Amino acid sequence: MTKDLDWENLGFSYIKTDYRFISRYKDGEWDEGELTTDNRLHISEGSTALHYGQQCFEGMKAYRTEEGSINLFRPYENAIRMKKSCERLLMAVYPEDKFVEAVKKVVRANEEWVPPYGTGSSLYLRPYMIGVGDNIGIKSADEYIFSIFAMPVGSYFKGGMKPSNFVVSGYDRAAPKGTGAAKVGGNYAASLLPGKEAKSRSFSDAVYLDPETHTKIEEVGAANFFGITKDDVFVTPKSPSILPSITKYSLLWLAENRLNLDTLEGDVFIRDIDQFKEAGACGTAAVIAPIGGLQVEDDFHVFYSETEVGPVTKRLYNELVGIQFGDVAAPEGWIEKV
Ligand SMILES: Cc1ncc(COP(=O)(O)O)c(C=O)c1O
Repeated sequence: MTKDLDWENLGFSYIKTDYRFISRYKDGEWDEGELTTDNRLHISEGSTALHYGQQCFEGMKAYRTEEGSINLFRPYENAIRMKKSCERLLMAVYPEDKFVEAVKKVVRANEEWVPPYGTGSSLYLRPYMIGVGDNIGIKSADEYIFSIFAMPVGSYFKGGMKPSNFVVSGYDRAAPKGTGAAKVGGNYAASLLPGKEAKSRSFSDAVYLDPETHTKIEEVGAANFFGITKDDVFVTPKSPSILPSITKYSLLWLAENRLNLDTLEGDVFIRDIDQFKEAGACGTAAVIAPIGGLQVEDDFHVFYSETEVGPVTKRLYNELVGIQFGDVAAPEGWIEKV
């Protein structure tokens, strides 16, 4: 049984599904955790998450396959990244195996909300952790809440992938040795204003340069950047202030092993963007959002086309989405059955 929703036309908005997982950390240990129907938290006003941003999160999806089973895509990578985010903010760590087990519990409990195969929609999962308890001094909390909720979301592109335009922002989302590589709320709070300014100028989102020299491309909104050079090299930036995107590392692997391209993770100087015949933003939400044009101060640079998607981008997209929905053979360990 699935819920009666307009599966093809879902967006990315909060939908209260039936169950979420919640576990509490106190006196140095996590409790067993439980599924609950209550979507409200009751926490102390002294919680470090409220005052000092001691919180982090993850984003991942569950996919219905043609035969009806449910796939998770590389969930251990999310568990590992969350562990790193927690370590960066001096938070308790939720064990990786238990993280994946809890994700499965939430998917199973909300199975009726997993969109049917063929709709392009999927079940988005949002694990998060917050520092709680009666604190007020600037120090790490003694108590934490780890929770995972789920909601069905639509395919990012209704009616096919389309390129859109982006603008290089004058703001930074993270500091050179700050928290850019961790998935923590503060980075996203810092990106709200640049994102709004970009959108008010009719761009899809802001592109961030490296915060140290402002000469290299780092992130595209809440996604990583990749480009395909004129001689078919898949290039993506490497920097300690970029969130290590699971989608990006998957595309890098597929580019090398399935498309037989050379790959390079390194500096992407903004002055050299002419080298790319295709470019895109990649992440869990969009998989790939092709970049049509990029506004760099007064120059507008078009990559492949403002209206058409380049052939390499299309192949990468089809390969990855095919793996996620179970239509294309997955590399060892990439798919975890629920
Ligand atoms: C800042 C940022 N960069 C990149 C990504 C893409 O990461 P992933 O492919 O793991 O979803 C995300 C989304 O999670 C993000 O928020």
